[in-house]
Amino acid sequence: MQKNCIILASGNGSNALNLINRFYINKTGSSLINISAVVSNIEGAPVIDKVKKAAPDIPALFLPYASVSERERFESELEGIIKKYKADYIILAGFMKILSEEFVSKFPYKIINIHPSLLPAFKGRDAIKKAFEYGVKYTGVTVHYVTHEIDAGPIICQEIVKIDDSDTMESLEAKVHKAEHKIYPVAIETALAGAIRNIN
Ligand code: GAR
Repeated sequence: MQKNCIILASGNGSNALNLINRFYINKTGSSLINISAVVSNIEGAPVIDKVKKAAPDIPALFLPYASVSERERFESELEGIIKKYKADYIILAGFMKILSEEFVSKFPYKIINIHPSLLPAFKGRDAIKKAFEYGVKYTGVTVHYVTHEIDAGPIICQEIVKIDDSDTMESLEAKVHKAEHKIYPVAIETALAGAIRNIN
C-alpha cells in the first residue's frame, strides 16, 4: 500500500528535490512512496520555489516556526496537515528546528531525519564544518529515526565520506551532499518497506 510522506525543510532543498525527482518526477524509486506535501518553516526558503517549479502538483506550504514560542502552534497546524494528507511518514530534509518531545512521541518510527555526519559524532548544527575543523579523516551521513533526543534516534543507514588533505570546506560540503542524495532515497525505501526496525 502506498505510504504518504510529508517533507519538512528549512533551506536550500537539495534533499527535498532529490526525493521528489526520484519518487515523483523520474519515478525511479519505489512507487510505494507518495510525496503528499512539502512544508517549510522559513518564509521565502529556496525549497518552496524549487518544489513549486519542479512539481507544481505537490503542495509547497509555508508554516512559520522561527522561535521556540511558535513551536506549539507550528506543531498543532502540522498535525492538521498530517491528517489532511493522511501522511504516514514525516521526512526531515534539512529541517533546522527541534520538534517537541510531545510531538515526536505521537509518531514513533514515523519521523525520519538525515544528518550530515557519522552520528553520534558532530550532532547539531554545522556538522560538516565541525568535522572539517576537527580534522577527522572520515565523516559522512546518517539517516535515522527521530526520537525526543536530538540526533540520537535508531540509525537506519550511514555512508562514509573520506576527507582528503586537498579538501576545502566547499569540496567537503559537495561530497557530503552527494552522499546524502545517494543514500536518503534508498534509506527511506528500505525503512518504509519495513525491512528495518519498524513498529508497523
Ligand atoms: C543537509 O546537509 C542536511 O543533512 C542538513 O541540512 C542540509 C540541508 O541541505 N541537516 C541537518 O543538519 C539537520 N541537523 P538541503 O536543504 O540542500 O537539503
